Amino acid sequence: MQIFLDSADIADLKAAAATGLVDGVTTNPSLIAKSGRKIADVIAEICALIPGPVSAEAVATDVEGMLAEGRYLRSIASNVTVKLPLTRDGLIACRTLAAEGTPVNVTLCFSAVQALLAAKAGATFISPFIGRLDDGGHDGMELIREIRQVYDNYGYETRILAASVRTVGHMRDAALAGADCSTIPPSVFNALYKHPLTDLGLAAFLKDWASTGQSIL
Ligand code: E4P
Repeated sequence: MQIFLDSADIADLKAAAATGLVDGVTTNPSLIAKSGRKIADVIAEICALIPGPVSAEAVATDVEGMLAEGRYLRSIASNVTVKLPLTRDGLIACRTLAAEGTPVNVTLCFSAVQALLAAKAGATFISPFIGRLDDGGHDGMELIREIRQVYDNYGYETRILAASVRTVGHMRDAALAGADCSTIPPSVFNALYKHPLTDLGLAAFLKDWASTGQSIL
């Protein structure tokens, strides 16, 4: 499974990238606003930091506007993936950009039929929002399972990018459900390593080792 960071915070991205475990980055207009920086500057810096796909989201809501913004965002760096919302206009723009060779991440997906349409429109990634479905009392993970089945039924190559991931449990369940990638906030990434039994076990091993008086080197 590929791990993407859902962040536009350069310090957080640098720290995570140092592990060699980050395959890509997703941003959205809220994350860019939080960075307080110009979108072109922050996307260029992220693209230089992380060689994998970096999603930059258009904010126009009409086809022509999305195409213009998408082409501009794509010109920032060769690893930009253009992010478009799952609307009628978004899918029309997706089809055109995909035909031009631009990878598109179709975002704000909340149903399996929406995901089916995105695949037909040539999306490289589909982003089902797990956490926001859970927030509304639905089962976000069931959506991942449904999309997996639909895509496998018809051989669609669109990659399922589990989004709105809020917990380590979401990450585990998305992997079990067959998501191709998960995009996670830095706080969840940093929590993935942690297990209390790892800490306890390591402390016990080190204590016993110290009692031997040995050193390996
Ligand atoms: C994904 O592409 C989105 O940027 C993100 O996962 C949304 O997460 P949220 O619902 O926690 O804001």
